[in-house]
Amino acid sequence: MIPSVRKYLTISLLLLFITPACGQRSQVGQSETPSPAVSQSADLDKETVIGEIGNPGVGDRYFPMLGNGGYDVTEYDLQLTWDPNLRFLSGSATIYGTSNINLLSLNLDLSGMKVLSVSMDDANLQFFVEENELTVVFPSVLIKNTDFSITVDYEGTPGLINDSLFPFEGGWFNSARGVLVAGEPSSSQAWHPVNDHPKDRAHFNISMTLPSDLSFVTNGVLVSKSSDAKSTTWEYETEHEQAPYLTTIAIGKFSQTFEQTFDEIQIRHWVEEGVQFPSQENLNLETMIIIFEELFGPYPFGDYGILAVNENLGYALETQTLSIFGKDLVGNQQIQAHELAHQWFGNFITLDDWSDIWLNEGLATYAEQLYLEKVNPNYNIDESFFEYYYSLSDQGYEFHVKPRPGDPGPTALFSSSVYIRPAMALHALRLEMGDPLFFQSLREYVRTFGGKSATPEGFIETFEDNANKDLELFFQQWLFEDQLPPR
Ligand code: ARG
Ligand code: ZN
Repeated sequence: MIPSVRKYLTISLLLLFITPACGQRSQVGQSETPSPAVSQSADLDKETVIGEIGNPGVGDRYFPMLGNGGYDVTEYDLQLTWDPNLRFLSGSATIYGTSNINLLSLNLDLSGMKVLSVSMDDANLQFFVEENELTVVFPSVLIKNTDFSITVDYEGTPGLINDSLFPFEGGWFNSARGVLVAGEPSSSQAWHPVNDHPKDRAHFNISMTLPSDLSFVTNGVLVSKSSDAKSTTWEYETEHEQAPYLTTIAIGKFSQTFEQTFDEIQIRHWVEEGVQFPSQENLNLETMIIIFEELFGPYPFGDYGILAVNENLGYALETQTLSIFGKDLVGNQQIQAHELAHQWFGNFITLDDWSDIWLNEGLATYAEQLYLEKVNPNYNIDESFFEYYYSLSDQGYEFHVKPRPGDPGPTALFSSSVYIRPAMALHALRLEMGDPLFFQSLREYVRTFGGKSATPEGFIETFEDNANKDLELFFQQWLFEDQLPPR
């Protein structure tokens, strides 16, 4: 929260405290509630609860304003209407959550949208908006461990999130063709109120009404589609929880193609008009999934596919069960493998802090190598990858080595070193442990942290337990020093 709002809120909440007390209340924050001064006196009701202001950030080391403290979201129910001519979004977001402290107020992340009203149980709540924070004030303390639902009505023209710490632009991209939502570490707050941190995974239920000549695409399963004379309403549901930044949206001329089911996984792609989508030969997801299931354990979700946009994006993004690709990279098998591997590493297992980004990118990059190794009988991973990058660093190609991948800093979140060096570390570890123990540890890591956030400590401990060896120095040298460890 911005200091001025925080100060104002503190003052207004204090005013609530010092209104005259009249007996038997168990919650602070209502007008008849005892003040904190009264609550220190001996004759006071023992059940008096002092609430706290929910933190405007979740405590991320790199992005202090992402996420919020004091509660967890279980579901976002988003009812949206899009006017493509005015580029205007009207939204009603109902957020189902649980308090994990006694809350006087809580924050949601929301960037650039106008909030019309906030309500809980059909009663309007007081709110403040400053920069990318929406503060919602409760009429009385929301007691710890209470399930709640808050509805926020809002509107505006969504755009990119303004945050100088972000490594790349992210948010809601408007173009002449339509809309694409993409961004890591954040895009959601550009279009709906959210607890925008991968620590807080939730279900998404998204309904969008828009002119019938446009398609609406998002993650998960299309559960209904209904039209009237002019407009169509599309409704999607995610089967599993997902981190907010892993939600994508696309609006334009898209068609769902190449549906197939294998191993109980529904494969479907959403392809924008004009994209040359790769043939089965150049997008062999079935083979990739089989290989990764063998190495990492079962594919964690019920569906998968690619959202292919008619644009050269220059990157791909592992949005949950529907990875975003531009037409420039959609045929690239290594990147196809990379984004698929993120479904285990990054999506099923989320980050606890963005400074641990190597856990996502290192594993997804190493997975590319594992895939190449499996499908090409002649592929020599030591030569093609490990020795190759060592020799590059000998030749002074420092950008694969620096900044230190264990702590690259927010703006260098996706530097080459964050991808390459941890992948090299994993290969070095595999050479040291041997294949059976290494892959056993990797699968154990997925089993232990799937559906949760992992930490580097948790990752390292899993391998230490299996190797029966202290690996602290090993990871220190590989991830936190300026140079690669000697060969
Ligand atoms: N996690 C993404 C990947 O694995 C990184 C996306 C970086 N964003 C960007 N706009 N380049 O490739
Ligand atoms: Zn990646």
